[in-house]
Amino acid sequence: MAKLNMLPVSVLAFTALSFGAPTQAPDLDSATEFALTYGFPLYPYASSSVEVMQVANGTNKFYHERALATPDFNQVVSPNVDTLYSAAVLDLSHNDLILEIPEVDDRYYVFPLYDVYGNNYVNLGSTSKSKAGKYRIRYTSDKSQQPGLQLCSHITRKRATELNCDGLEGIITAVTPYGSSQPRYAVTGASDDLDKIHAFQDQSKIYTVAKPQPDNAANKNEIPKLTMALLNSTLSSDMAVKVMQLTARIAPYNPARNGSDQARVDRNLKAAGIDNGKYKHQPGQDLQCSFNATKVKMVAVSKSKKNSMDLGHEWSTLRSSVQGDFGTNYLVRQTVATAGYLQLTQSEALYPTYTGESSMRLNESQAYLFTFESKPPLKELGFWSLTAYNAEHFLIENDLNVYSLGDRSNLTYSDGTLVYGNDEHEDVPFQILVQPANVQPPKNWTSNWLPAAANGGDMSLLLRFYAQEDELTNGKYKAPLLQKVDAIVE
Ligand SMILES: *[C@@H]1O[C@H](CO)[C@@H](O)[C@H](O)[C@H]1NC(C)=O
Ligand SMILES: *[C@@H]1O[C@H](CO)[C@@H](O)[C@H](O)[C@H]1NC(C)=O
Ligand SMILES: *[C@@H]1O[C@H](CO)[C@@H](O)[C@H](O)[C@H]1NC(C)=O
Ligand SMILES: *[C@@H]1O[C@H](CO)[C@@H](O)[C@H](O)[C@H]1NC(C)=O
Ligand SMILES: *[C@@H]1O[C@H](CO)[C@@H](O)[C@H](O)[C@H]1NC(C)=O
Ligand SMILES: *[C@@H]1O[C@H](CO)[C@@H](O)[C@H](O)[C@H]1NC(C)=O
Ligand SMILES: *[C@@H]1O[C@H](CO)[C@@H](O)[C@H](O)[C@H]1NC(C)=O
Repeated sequence: MAKLNMLPVSVLAFTALSFGAPTQAPDLDSATEFALTYGFPLYPYASSSVEVMQVANGTNKFYHERALATPDFNQVVSPNVDTLYSAAVLDLSHNDLILEIPEVDDRYYVFPLYDVYGNNYVNLGSTSKSKAGKYRIRYTSDKSQQPGLQLCSHITRKRATELNCDGLEGIITAVTPYGSSQPRYAVTGASDDLDKIHAFQDQSKIYTVAKPQPDNAANKNEIPKLTMALLNSTLSSDMAVKVMQLTARIAPYNPARNGSDQARVDRNLKAAGIDNGKYKHQPGQDLQCSFNATKVKMVAVSKSKKNSMDLGHEWSTLRSSVQGDFGTNYLVRQTVATAGYLQLTQSEALYPTYTGESSMRLNESQAYLFTFESKPPLKELGFWSLTAYNAEHFLIENDLNVYSLGDRSNLTYSDGTLVYGNDEHEDVPFQILVQPANVQPPKNWTSNWLPAAANGGDMSLLLRFYAQEDELTNGKYKAPLLQKVDAIVE
């Protein structure tokens, strides 16, 4: 960073030496970068929570999205048309919660729980084979209680009594007192399907119950209630300053995902000017410069072999150890919070990234051709999709109203038979053509045509697999071959 270069050589040497020393106070620049990286997810947390709390009328209540995204929808970037969402902002500071999940056996669904930093620490749903019923969610500052799910049927009667298991399927110990949930249900495409999902949404419930005594009476007085004011008042309009302010308000009450890293986190936040619930600019601190430095590091970390794995044909993805639940890898966490906040862990989904081109773009005489070696291997109720987005990352207007293709579409093999709905072609390839909406391909391509923006332009394509089989990640099944070709026309 520019500022460091102006320091005398002796100070530089000292900085370099003190950098790795675990107990010494970190230098200002590295502490500031650390704080910005560590606290960054609180920025999307606060902004999305403000929206959810407005539509749900507060914390600890579900808001249900009732319709699928269309090209007019511009609330979030890269919306999917695979699942219908609900959302709730969770505040466990003064109460426990009961989450009631409905009986859903005809489709993929998941009730993910996220801590305030976006770590996906528990998933209830089809992949976990969760039972319908009630789950208590609690936060305790008792460090001997590991965060996670304990099924009431899997613990001793004595322990079940201690945990107040009566009438419950399980107890979820939260990582942080503030958090969120974003339940989602797969859409099958059948005509009455949204009505079915609405019924599931209406059967799902979340409500507060008193904390059992003497669970954590101490916390109860100490942790502030999660309010609109805490998330939204008197914040700077500058993103870096806002991250520091939110970190000052939220981090003291919301522990690190990995408790053994807490002391290092505290030391760095303090050295960066975060103390006693307030952020104070430090003499010589250049937040913009440090924030830029974190952006450079994010680019490096997302390319690092250590964090990613190869899926074949120039596709890669995050390793399962850093997807959705990030441990102490705060840089990956910041990267995901920037690009795709509230990621699920790999036990639920796979989000491949194409590395063969740094950005995607078509002109009106070009197309992208995807060749799948065979049907992607999925677990029961699993699904997959390929969705096209325009330069603004919104869905693309087209006459067919097709925004995504996948296992629920009428894809055909080259002989015209259906890829799904016919068992005779288990292991043969099929193709998807991504071609501008105004450049009609020959008729036999119609059901495999995913329209790109008319006349071409910058675009992005997202491939998503839910409840994927291990073959997709262990090298047995390669992600699709992607080629840029001349547009296919009569
Ligand atoms: C919103 O919640 C408040 C209490 O928190 C309640 O008084 C009010 O009636 C609720 N409004 C709606 C529209 O549900
Ligand atoms: C959040 O804060 C901004 C800036 O002060 C304000 O314009 C907005 O109305 C606030 N939103 C809510 C829901 O209070
Ligand atoms: C927690 O972090 C420490 C070092 O900070 C590391 O040694 C340990 O493996 C981590 N634990 C988990 C469960 O990730
Ligand atoms: C940070 O990066 C932006 C955009 O890349 C640049 O305009 C700005 O000058 C940089 N600021 C500092 C302080 O390095
Ligand atoms: C599209 O791009 C290709 C490759 O650069 C080029 O050969 C072709 O002339 C372009 N077509 C149009 C209509 O711009
Ligand atoms: C697939 O084809 C069937 C029969 O023609 C039709 O009813 C259905 O709507 C089609 N599905 C999609 C997703 O286009
Ligand atoms: C359409 O027909 C052409 C020519 O026979 C063939 O090469 C191509 O694979 C077919 N495409 C699909 C999706 O069936």
